[in-house]
Amino acid sequence: MLIKTNEINSMMLFQHLSTSIMPRPIAWVSSMSSEGVPNLAPYSLFGILSVTPAVISICVMNQMGGKKDTLVNILDTKVFAISMVSRELLTSMAPTGMPSPPYVNEYETAGVTPEECDTIPCVRCAESKISLECRLREVQNFGDDGDESDSVIIADVLAIHMDDSIMTGQQIDIAKLDNIGHIIQHMYIGTSDILGPMG
Ligand SMILES: Cc1cc2nc3c(=O)[nH]c(=O)nc-3n(C[C@H](O)[C@H](O)[C@H](O)COP(=O)(O)O)c2cc1C
Repeated sequence: MLIKTNEINSMMLFQHLSTSIMPRPIAWVSSMSSEGVPNLAPYSLFGILSVTPAVISICVMNQMGGKKDTLVNILDTKVFAISMVSRELLTSMAPTGMPSPPYVNEYETAGVTPEECDTIPCVRCAESKISLECRLREVQNFGDDGDESDSVIIADVLAIHMDDSIMTGQQIDIAKLDNIGHIIQHMYIGTSDILGPMG
């Protein structure tokens, strides 16, 4: 079967891309509205764009769920934190993937604790074992559909918090971290099945 991406609609493209390129880590994005309301939302179209300098990207799909609070907040404040989602945080994270009005504090929805960041005026999820503090570099919109095309948030990582409980010496111990990966919708996968070079 061969599919040409310019011949199928966005929903089918999303299906095919997200089940081809998986599992993806989940960026649990913590941002603040200009009124100071904290917002938490999961984004798995997320990756490392560059290591030197440390730059990450998050794709906000503008066709699904209206204008997302995360994008509005980051455009307003230029900063945000990403908390990584381990297995124990799955049930807290899942409800924050549902649309909710901008005045709702999603830390309360999730039942997790906001903790002040060190290098940016924002909060991060205290229960997460790894958090990245990020500053907006730019937002790229590819495509000619104006507001219909997705917005790619590109940001510098200014600091990384690593909980002592997941460290073995100076290294993050992947087994202790137990991050989950996203496939599509409510389908997730564990990362504990680590393979050597021969499988
Ligand atoms: C695990 C997971 C991953 C998601 N990844 C994305 C993504 O990469 N891009 C996106 O636009 N929406 C994604 N969503 C949907 C958003 O989280 C959802 O639209 C959310 O309501 C946005 O919240 P906000 O308006 O507070 O930013 C994902 C949802 C889940 C549950």
